[in-house]
Amino acid sequence: MSKRTYVLAIDQGTTSTRAILFDAAGTIVAVDQREHRQILPRAGWVEHDGIEIWDNTREVVGGVLGKANVNRGSVAAVGITNQRETTIVWDRATGQPIANAIVWQDTRTGRLVQELAGDEGPNRHAARTGLPLATYFAGPKARWLLDSVEGARERAEAGELLFGTMDTWLIWNLTGGVDGGLHITDVTNASRTLLMDLETLQWDSDLCAAIGLPMAMLPEIRSSSEVYGVCQPGSGLLADVPVAGILGDQQAATFGQSCLTRGMAKNTYGTGNFMLLNTGTEIVPSRNGLLTTVCYRLGDEPAVYALEGSIAVTGSLVQWLRDNLGIIGSAPEVETLALGVADNGGAYFVPAFSGLFAPYWRPDARGAIVGLTRFVDKGHIARAALESTAFQTYDVLQAMNADSGVDLTELKVDGGMTANDTLMQFQADLLGVEVIRPVVTETTALGAAYAAGLAVGYWSSTDDILANWQESKRWSPRMATADRDRLLRGWAKAVERTLNWVD
Ligand code: G3P
Repeated sequence: MSKRTYVLAIDQGTTSTRAILFDAAGTIVAVDQREHRQILPRAGWVEHDGIEIWDNTREVVGGVLGKANVNRGSVAAVGITNQRETTIVWDRATGQPIANAIVWQDTRTGRLVQELAGDEGPNRHAARTGLPLATYFAGPKARWLLDSVEGARERAEAGELLFGTMDTWLIWNLTGGVDGGLHITDVTNASRTLLMDLETLQWDSDLCAAIGLPMAMLPEIRSSSEVYGVCQPGSGLLADVPVAGILGDQQAATFGQSCLTRGMAKNTYGTGNFMLLNTGTEIVPSRNGLLTTVCYRLGDEPAVYALEGSIAVTGSLVQWLRDNLGIIGSAPEVETLALGVADNGGAYFVPAFSGLFAPYWRPDARGAIVGLTRFVDKGHIARAALESTAFQTYDVLQAMNADSGVDLTELKVDGGMTANDTLMQFQADLLGVEVIRPVVTETTALGAAYAAGLAVGYWSSTDDILANWQESKRWSPRMATADRDRLLRGWAKAVERTLNWVD
C-alpha cells in the first residue's frame, strides 16, 4: 500500500460539486460541497455555468483538505465522477466555454433527435451505441451548440473548440488547461454520447457524421482506472497528485456498491434514479426500454457492461415541492408530511417533467397529478410524490428482469432518498424484493476513489473493495398482494394519462 494516506474523489453532480477524502477502509474522512446555479432560461432548458463549476471544484478541494487538516502530500490519487451527458464546448486557446453547459435533463434537442431518427426511428443507432435517440444524450447537445453559436462549427472543424462531458472539462482544467491540459474522457462517459461504438470502445466516424460533429473536437477515450497524468499548479492545491480514475456517476455508484459480478444491481436515488445491472463482459441489448452502457473498464482489462434504467425525476420532485409549490420548507419535511396521512388517498403523481425516460422513452409525456377528489390534501400530494419514485423504480425493475431473464431477489440502494424510511419500505413492498443500504451511502464518490486508488496501488485489487462493503439496513416486503396490485394498477393508469401531451 502507498504511503500516502487518502484518496480524493471529486463528484461533479447535477446540483453540486463535492470533494470527499476516503481512507483505505473506504470510510469518509472529510467532505466539502458547493451548490451551483440551475439556469432555466426557458421551459425544458437546463444549463450550468462551466466556469462556476470549475471554481467550485477548486474551492471544495481546498475545503476538504482544510477540514481534514492535510495537504496534497497525503493524497495518493484523485478520481473524478460526474453527472453524465451534460455537455460543454470550450475554446482550446482561452479556456472559455462558448456557452453554458447543456444539462442532461434539458429537452431542447427534441426536434433535432426526431430529425436524426428519420424514417428508421429512435433505435436507429441502438445496436452500435446501446442508446435510443433521445434528448438525454450528449452528442446531439453538442450538435445543437455548433448549430446555434455563431461560427462554432467552423472553429470546431479547425480544431479550435473542444467537446467534453464534465469529467473532461474538469480534467482538462486540473491538468493544465490552456497550457496543455489533457483532453480525455473514459469509456463510461463516452458511452453516453451516441458517438461511441460499444464494441470497439472508440468514437465511430459514421456515428459522428450522422450526428453532425467533427471528430477533431472529441476527447481521447481512456479506461476508467489508470494514471492519466498529474494535476498542475493551477489546479488549486493538488499539484503533482495523479489523476487516476474517471467514472460517470452512476457507474461509479455501481463500482462503489461493489456490484462487480454479473447479475449484481444497484439503484441510486439522486436528482433522478438510475438502476444498473452488471452484465459482465457481455453487451446485452435491451428489448424493454433500458440502455446498454459501459459499466467500467480497469486499465487494459476487458470492459464490463451494464443494463441501465434511467429515471429523470425522483429527488428533484422533492425539490420542486419545496421550491415551486412551497408545500415543504426543506426536503426531509416531505416524509413528515407524507406520514400525516394513511395512504395516497387515491392520488398519483407522474413527474414526467423531461418527458418519460426508461422504460418508456416518451418525450411527448408531461407531468400529471391524477385521481384527485376533494378529500386529497397536501399530505396525499407529498405521499404521491414520494411514491412516484418507487413506482418508477418498479417499472424499471420489471424491464430489467425481462431483459436479463433473471428475477432480482435483492436490490442495493444508495443516494439521498434512501434516508427516507417510509419510501424504502414502500419500495420493498412494491418490488417484492429485499432492499439493502450499505454503511457508506456515498457510493458515487467512493467508486471514483476506488478506480483512482486501484490505478496507483493504494488498493491492490477489487477484493479490497468487496471486503470494504458492509450492510447497514435492510427493508423486507410486507404489503398484501391485493394492495400492491391495486396501487400498481392506479400507477399504470396515471402513466397513461401523461402520454401524447406534447404534439
Ligand atoms: O445521467 C444523469 C446522471 O448522471 C445524473 O446524476 O446524481 O447528478 O443526478 P445526478
